[in-house]
Amino acid sequence: MKKIIIANWKMNPSTEGEAVKLAKAEDEKNVVIVPPFPFLKSVKNVLRNASLGAQDVFYEKEGAYTGEVSPVMLEKLGVAYVIVGHSERRRLGEDDAMIAKKVRAAMDTGLKVILCVGEPLNVRRKGKRAVDVFIKKQLSYIKNKKNLIIAYEPVWAIGTGKNADPDDAARVAEVIRKKLPVPVLYGGSTNSRNAKSFLEKKEIAGLLVGGASIDPREFGKMVTIARHIRS
Ligand code: PGA
Repeated sequence: MKKIIIANWKMNPSTEGEAVKLAKAEDEKNVVIVPPFPFLKSVKNVLRNASLGAQDVFYEKEGAYTGEVSPVMLEKLGVAYVIVGHSERRRLGEDDAMIAKKVRAAMDTGLKVILCVGEPLNVRRKGKRAVDVFIKKQLSYIKNKKNLIIAYEPVWAIGTGKNADPDDAARVAEVIRKKLPVPVLYGGSTNSRNAKSFLEKKEIAGLLVGGASIDPREFGKMVTIARHIRS
């Protein structure tokens, strides 16, 4: 199976023009571009090779939910993937029960779900067993593996310049796959210098890239590295 690279732009860039330019520069096969909601449609219009993803979704189809976006709305826009349970959303108050509802609603609509899991620093400091227990608990809420991808993103590695040890990331990917046999990505401060060390692990199906994904040159190098990995 080909390695997959997800470009999670987070709340960047500021304008539609910049978003379209960035999307054109990153439009490669086995790539998923995940722009902010307001740019989904214009990004979709310029993509020829990459797939389109959204950064979040709500669990109801319609109704009085100010500020929310439903899975049906995303699907109608041509969105194929949705990130659910990113640690930056968990930090704002999303818990495992809410995330499980979002996962189910997105799957029911036919969207592919990229579910983010990963331990905070205080759990990592307790050692590998504590990490495994923490992640298994996050996964225990998920009942269906159809159209599911999991991103293992240690919270302490996101946007910090710190990486998981690739061997340990591969080990955690296996722990995840024993519980839910689905593709597992790694995310957390990946860039063109460290991408190979994660991508060459057979347990790791690809990368969820944040910061480096808004730099088209850096991102392009990562896509090239992914393409040259034999799996
Ligand atoms: P990062 O973000 O690559 O900037 O650490 C990863 C993510 O949040 O998915």
